[in-house]
Amino acid sequence: MDLQGKHIVLGLTGGIACYKAAEFCRALVKEGATVQVVMTEGALQFITPVTMQALSNRIVYTSQWDARAPNAMAHINLSREADAIVIAPCSADFMARLAQGRADELLSLLCLARPMERVPLLIAPAMNREMWAHPATRRNVAQLQADGCTVLDVGVGEQACGETGDGRMLEPQELLADVVAFFQPKLLAGQHVLVSAGPTYEAIDPVRGITNLSSGKMGFAIARAASEAGAQVTLVAGPVSLPTPRGVKRVDVRSASNMLAACMDRADTASIFIATAAVADWRPKQASDQKIKKDGSGQPPALEFVENPDILATLAQSPRARSGALYCVGFAAESHDLLANSSAKRLKKGVPLLVGNIGPATFGQDENALLLVDAHGTRELARNTKRALARQLIAEIASRMVHKE
Ligand code: C5P
Repeated sequence: MDLQGKHIVLGLTGGIACYKAAEFCRALVKEGATVQVVMTEGALQFITPVTMQALSNRIVYTSQWDARAPNAMAHINLSREADAIVIAPCSADFMARLAQGRADELLSLLCLARPMERVPLLIAPAMNREMWAHPATRRNVAQLQADGCTVLDVGVGEQACGETGDGRMLEPQELLADVVAFFQPKLLAGQHVLVSAGPTYEAIDPVRGITNLSSGKMGFAIARAASEAGAQVTLVAGPVSLPTPRGVKRVDVRSASNMLAACMDRADTASIFIATAAVADWRPKQASDQKIKKDGSGQPPALEFVENPDILATLAQSPRARSGALYCVGFAAESHDLLANSSAKRLKKGVPLLVGNIGPATFGQDENALLLVDAHGTRELARNTKRALARQLIAEIASRMVHKE
């Protein structure tokens, strides 16, 4: 659970997006957080405290005059125990109040009273597109950011008022991903990470082709972990149906040649390349324009194959990689002798770090175990979820970059 041990004060302000806050609260709790809900009067017009109490399992605070706190200082007590205050939805009016440092009701009061150095404030704006675009709101966003507040993105699309545009609140799962990412250490801030993931598909004819069982899960988890660590991330994905991790730029490709071209295009600006894709070694020399039919002879068609380009080796031999500007990481999916095979593959591909895993134990699974091999030795990352392993691998890569290994 990504938020185990975290205590979140979840503030709701007046807006129709309050209905999404119920689901968001549930998602925070499911991820292990304890959640204390605080609602403004405006929020009470849209959703009841009963709903939020049932989902958070705590009595909701709605007033600074709440007599429950023996010291009568709910704003102090609530803000001191939080690991973060998240306002979702945050109305245009509440942003203006925060920007001005107003303190005449409980939620704005506790935001102002929070110890800024240890209790971060995140807001998820929600409003009509004209209100979002208004110079006053733009000014407030800039002021809040200057004051150290994290202003989450807004969604684009249909709005409750019937108009379409920017300003709707992010969906609960997007908010959750942003809060989880917020707590991750920013080990790769300023880096551009390029990740290849998934299988490739090599066409035989318009309806058939050669592919493999790679699910793309490890590569997608690595892209997510790199983004959480503060990097700009480009994910070059073969044909898989996984959702794109938040904040990651995805480029969909099909064949090994497409994947090479997409990776080469971005390698000039990348500082790290992590090759997790299971690239087909061979492709049919010439894909047929039409479906190849049985000709009644009982003989299968004679297919001729040519070798695919090695994307990792190509990038690892580029001048940028050789000068140390592009740090390349390879993967090896083996069935046996993981150490010997991984060490040999590291040298063959010419990469500083190679990550070995057992193919049949990882393809399609949510868990994996990794063996890291570099010039200094090996390190095992014990069986765990791919998400946890991805975060560990990102930390290993970050420390090798710091130490220039
Ligand atoms: O040679 P092998 O396929 O076992 O190498 C695996 C590593 O090389 C992986 O990191 C994979 O993404 C990369 N690779 C590649 N292009 C290929 C074959 C493998 O980038 N044509």
